[in-house]
Amino acid sequence: MTIQNALPTGSIIDDYEITGVLGVGGFGITYKGYDSSLDREVAIKEYLPSSIAVRRPFDQTVSASCDSNQKHYEFGLQKFLDEARVLAKFHVPNIVGVNRFLERNGTAYLIMDYEDGEVLFQHIKRRQILTEKMLLDIFLPVLEGLKAIHMKSYLHRDIKPSNIYLAKNQVPKLIDFGAARVAWNERSRTMTQMLTPGYAPFEQYQSHGKQGPWTDLYALGATIYLVVTGKKPLESTERVAALQDGQEDPMPLASDIAFSQYHSEFLQTIDWMLKVRPVDRPQTALQVIQRFEKVKLQIESAPRMVKEASKMAQRVCQQKRVPSPRRYRIDKEQILMNSTVALLVVAGFMVLVRMVS
Ligand SMILES: Nc1ncnc2c1ncn2[C@@H]1O[C@H](COP(=O)(O)OP(=O)(O)O)[C@@H](O)[C@H]1O
Ligand SMILES: [Mg+2]
Repeated sequence: MTIQNALPTGSIIDDYEITGVLGVGGFGITYKGYDSSLDREVAIKEYLPSSIAVRRPFDQTVSASCDSNQKHYEFGLQKFLDEARVLAKFHVPNIVGVNRFLERNGTAYLIMDYEDGEVLFQHIKRRQILTEKMLLDIFLPVLEGLKAIHMKSYLHRDIKPSNIYLAKNQVPKLIDFGAARVAWNERSRTMTQMLTPGYAPFEQYQSHGKQGPWTDLYALGATIYLVVTGKKPLESTERVAALQDGQEDPMPLASDIAFSQYHSEFLQTIDWMLKVRPVDRPQTALQVIQRFEKVKLQIESAPRMVKEASKMAQRVCQQKRVPSPRRYRIDKEQILMNSTVALLVVAGFMVLVRMVS
């Protein structure tokens, strides 16, 4: 299948050979590639915002689709590169590793470590049921990744099940950083269409909405909501509209839907992350991490508690069977007394026999 605008297999960019297409998004194309200098596989992301740019036919060059898009194209390209520079500085286990970025063909390329695995979206489609422990093993590392980027005053802004990558080595990673998109928004309305409904909180729809770590936490909350309830989170604009009309929030709470499968503290944290007003949400990833760690501890200590309880029960049973030391002493005394009485009776009997004879 040929993908519109994608570089064909075998194309060469510097040391890299394109070996396939991994994904096509509104802002670019991600390829699988081969790094001939280091003899390893890579993932290559090419800046190609399909709504304003095209690839020239019979050529690798990418350019704005018309003069009026030129400014936006260049602005976005600059932001893509800025973001690449930032990402290349992060060496955090839960953020995809960016090794290099290149400017070629009128556009730019991000060279990343190729991770063998699948995005969370595919994972949940395949596995369907994920235990609370499995979820915490995925989302706690993702929160660590978020904490790291927030600490450097960056936001991801596009957290969703298809931007969390579950590498086969079990390390969950955040992919697809979208700062370029947001920067774009500052200049044009095009960005609004790029939001992911259901995951983007209301402040991302507003031209002057105050975005911060709580913005990513809403999107992550929506992601976990999908996994635990099996329901796609409602678009935040719908929720806001209902609330403004004096109606109830039309999105049911995770605590109400999934209470039979998960700890209430876990579900309440998800509902907290999904509060409509930013001030009502957790303000830092650390706040969520602390709540989730507590749940993890409860899960881990639950089997331990069961073991302890069964040990105690065993001990109680054994105590019932084995006489206590005090009881044992009494028995010994009784035996002694009984034998003394028996001896006296025998002796008395013998004396009597003598007297009779
Ligand atoms: N480092 C990587 N290793 C392996 N596959 C990747 C990597 N980065 C992205 N992908 C794959 O490429 C797809 C698209 O990447 P992404 O960065 O999310 O771009 P977009 O959503 O803008 O198309 C992902 O869904 C994933 O399957
Ligand atoms: Mg993506």
